Amino acid sequence: MKTALVTGASSGIGYEMARILSHLGYDLILVARREDRLLELQKLLETHSEIIVCDLSKEEECKELYKAVKKKDISVLINNAGFGLCGSFTETDLDKELNMINVNIKAVHILTKLFLKDFVKKDDGYILNVASSAGLMAGGPLMATYYATKAYVVDFTRAINTELSDMGSNVYIGALCPGPVDTEFNDVADVKFEMKGINKKYCAKYALYNMFENRKMIIVPTAGMKLSVCASKFVPTRPLLEITRRIQERKK
Ligand SMILES: NC(=O)c1ccc[n+]([C@@H]2O[C@H](COP(=O)([O-])OP(=O)(O)OC[C@H]3O[C@@H](n4cnc5c(N)ncnc54)[C@H](OP(=O)(O)O)[C@@H]3O)[C@@H](O)[C@H]2O)c1
Repeated sequence: MKTALVTGASSGIGYEMARILSHLGYDLILVARREDRLLELQKLLETHSEIIVCDLSKEEECKELYKAVKKKDISVLINNAGFGLCGSFTETDLDKELNMINVNIKAVHILTKLFLKDFVKKDDGYILNVASSAGLMAGGPLMATYYATKAYVVDFTRAINTELSDMGSNVYIGALCPGPVDTEFNDVADVKFEMKGINKKYCAKYALYNMFENRKMIIVPTAGMKLSVCASKFVPTRPLLEITRRIQERKK
């Protein structure tokens, strides 16, 4: 039986991905800190699933997670857990930011490294890193750390994708880069998007389809966001940063 591991499965995009993967016949390993939420999700799944309560901001717990599942022949890793924080860099909390760097970057880095080695050995497997359209911009004034973490995930994923294709490997790695999605993200980041977020089920379905069927390196759901990302490439950096700052300012 095929097995998929989804981090941040307790809500939002990760929760929906777990449900779709189960519907596709995958056994699931559900990872997050809120066990009650994972237990609720487990009841809805159509296949066997296992819950691993894990704080991905802790390096040791990321490594323990890998050790706990490495014998299970996992073929899909969804590095989805992550969160944002809004505010002027001179005022935002350093500990929260370091925590964010640990979850959004370090955990993704560690899990990609450990699982990819196994996937390459068997020449099979999928890794989807959930970044953001924020990672495709020039930077995010008033959300500086969040944008930078997502730019890391995008660059890192693109580079590994290229290394894999140079090796002629069958292993897939890609980055999901959505704009606003209607999840608990806003409450955690303490922001309010001006633009209505897209449906989380749609986002998850679009991402998995483009991973399995189209093997897209960068997945951007919705034509509007694709157009914004494309247009941003033609705007010089200073004005682009100014536009992003204004958008962030209105979110507070
Ligand atoms: N919503 C958007 O507008 C949007 C847009 C672009 C990209 N994204 C990205 O999409 C991903 C999923 O976010 P979402 O929108 O679905 O938000 P969400 O509903 O808040 O879900 C975030 C998930 O991450 C998990 N998580 C956070 N910190 C964790 C930690 N220390 N250890 C383990 N798990 C942790 C949470 O689980 P627990 O709290 O139970 O641990 C939760 O399951 C994130 O990487 C986010 O940056 C979101």
